[in-house]
Amino acid sequence: MSSPGPAQLPQHVAIIMDGNGRWAQQRGLPRLEGHRRGVEAVRTTMNAAREIGIRYITLYAFSVENWKRPQGEVGGLMGLLEFYLKKELATFVRDGVRFRTIGRTDQMPAGVRRLLRETAAATAHFTDWHFILALNYGSRTEVADAARAYAAAVVAGTEKLADNSWATFSRYLYTDGIPEPDLLVRTSGEQRVSNFLLLQCAYAEMVFTPTLWPDFGKADLQAAVDEYGRRERRYGLTAEQIKAGAK
Ligand code: IPE
Ligand code: IPE
Ligand code: MG
Repeated sequence: MSSPGPAQLPQHVAIIMDGNGRWAQQRGLPRLEGHRRGVEAVRTTMNAAREIGIRYITLYAFSVENWKRPQGEVGGLMGLLEFYLKKELATFVRDGVRFRTIGRTDQMPAGVRRLLRETAAATAHFTDWHFILALNYGSRTEVADAARAYAAAVVAGTEKLADNSWATFSRYLYTDGIPEPDLLVRTSGEQRVSNFLLLQCAYAEMVFTPTLWPDFGKADLQAAVDEYGRRERRYGLTAEQIKAGAK
């Protein structure tokens, strides 16, 4: 039974933006040109998400592993990020979008850190639309950081080891206060999760599209959302139980 409508809409879509390098390579352009066009796709996707009615969007922009890329590419990406944040702050405020990051942003360049802080602070009061940028993010690093913070709380006596549960522990992840992704999209035809939100996507539906990230637009996002609408999420139950309305 598939009735189209708001119930079929994912509340939170997480996207692994991949394929900038190949997009540039196919055109004989430097990789950084692919990243530049990738920034345009971020803008397009953000607008499309609001038009479709997706309240939370998380974009994987830079992984903890990406530092190992050639120095010139890493520097170029940081420069692009700074340029993007400077330009976008006014748009977020205009559109009522709350901006947050997940990842070890304390290791980002000082200029970027300052802009991240400013952008998050200026939009912290918005509640309708949420944009989360994963920067210097890795799931394994996140779990290690959460375990350390949780252990410190146990030592300090604010948490009791005997009470530990997923509900308690997950509050120490970077994503505290953000609902789990319903839909995970990866562009460029790769079918892997590359250390992205491994725990939070425990029950996310996954859609892989061959579109390279710079070419990603509203039609691609809509197609992924439509595919999500055709899926049946069962959370370990039987199809019959789901049809009977069990949760
Ligand atoms: C994704 O595009 C952007 C980042 C990882 C920063 P890639 O740069 O990974 O593009 P491909 O995979 O080399 O085509
Ligand atoms: C994943 O893409 C990271 C981001 C999109 C930021 P990669 O291109 O780095 O992933 P792998 O290396 O192909 O798995
Ligand atoms: Mg890639």
